[in-house]
Amino acid sequence: MSEAPRDWTIRDIVGWMADDLKKRGVESARLDAELVVAQALGLDRVQIIIQSQRLLAPSELDAVRALFKRRRTLEPVAYLRGEREFYGRAFKVDRRVLVPRPDTEILVQVALDRLAGRELYARVADLCTGSGCVGITLKLELPTITLDATDLSDGAIAVARANAQRLGAVFGCSYRHGDLFEPLRDARGAPAHRYELVVANPPYIAHGEIATLQPDIRDHEPRLALDGGGDGLDIVRRIVAEAPGFLSPGGALAMEIGAEQAGAVASLLLARGFRDVRPTKDYGGHERVVSGLFG
Ligand SMILES: C[S@@+](CC[C@H](N)C(=O)[O-])C[C@H]1O[C@@H](n2cnc3c(N)ncnc32)[C@H](O)[C@@H]1O
Repeated sequence: MSEAPRDWTIRDIVGWMADDLKKRGVESARLDAELVVAQALGLDRVQIIIQSQRLLAPSELDAVRALFKRRRTLEPVAYLRGEREFYGRAFKVDRRVLVPRPDTEILVQVALDRLAGRELYARVADLCTGSGCVGITLKLELPTITLDATDLSDGAIAVARANAQRLGAVFGCSYRHGDLFEPLRDARGAPAHRYELVVANPPYIAHGEIATLQPDIRDHEPRLALDGGGDGLDIVRRIVAEAPGFLSPGGALAMEIGAEQAGAVASLLLARGFRDVRPTKDYGGHERVVSGLFG
């Protein structure tokens, strides 16, 4: 934009930014450019189109430039906008949390299916809660449940609490900082409650694959949210091992997993004594969630 020779209309600036992003290999270049301009100007995308011939004031150009600088480093658009839609609701996001993915809505669906008929007094644990998108969505879909959400990142727990406040998932909910099930133990170290459902979207990328991820993800999203150890299943193994101690009879465990991990994870559940173990496919046809019942 340094070569700007003239006044800029919204259409000009969107076009210029889209070209620049395209050259940098961004597939969604046009959409990103529109979203960045909309965010900087406090407009929505429809207004961007309606006002496409409008000239930008110098202060508006500065605002667009500042935001675009961040997108040029491939920082995810969701961080620039400060929110991301999940299951029809806007969740606040920043660098402290993974950006909620559409495929994770499948985990919510599986969780709702597994709770069907038991939801009235159900107690649900959402491990690795991040932005809180999974647990908070379950609470908003099934208001009578009790929710305990945990995350090892205190920054993530702060974001989850902010989302809980803003979306109305506070009463009957707790958001606790700590390692997997640890915050759910009583003073003697025993499970403080039994759960009808334990749900988790844990980090599941194999350590050696992190370097090969797209730069948006690799360089900007929290490493703690991605790195699942040597084969990606370090955290999954711990959840499968500990979950039975926290589940009520017939309680369900549902976890999101990587595209090639369903077989290995199903074997882990079966070996630990789970029954009715099932994979569920995502929108792209990959087995994305594995769930089972215990007892
Ligand atoms: C893949 S993200 C999922 C976030 C959110 N549930 C979602 O679906 O978008 C994984 C989350 O697990 C958290 N995490 C990593 N290791 C953990 C552990 N040992 N105990 C609890 N949380 C952990 C990370 O901080 C991160 O927020």
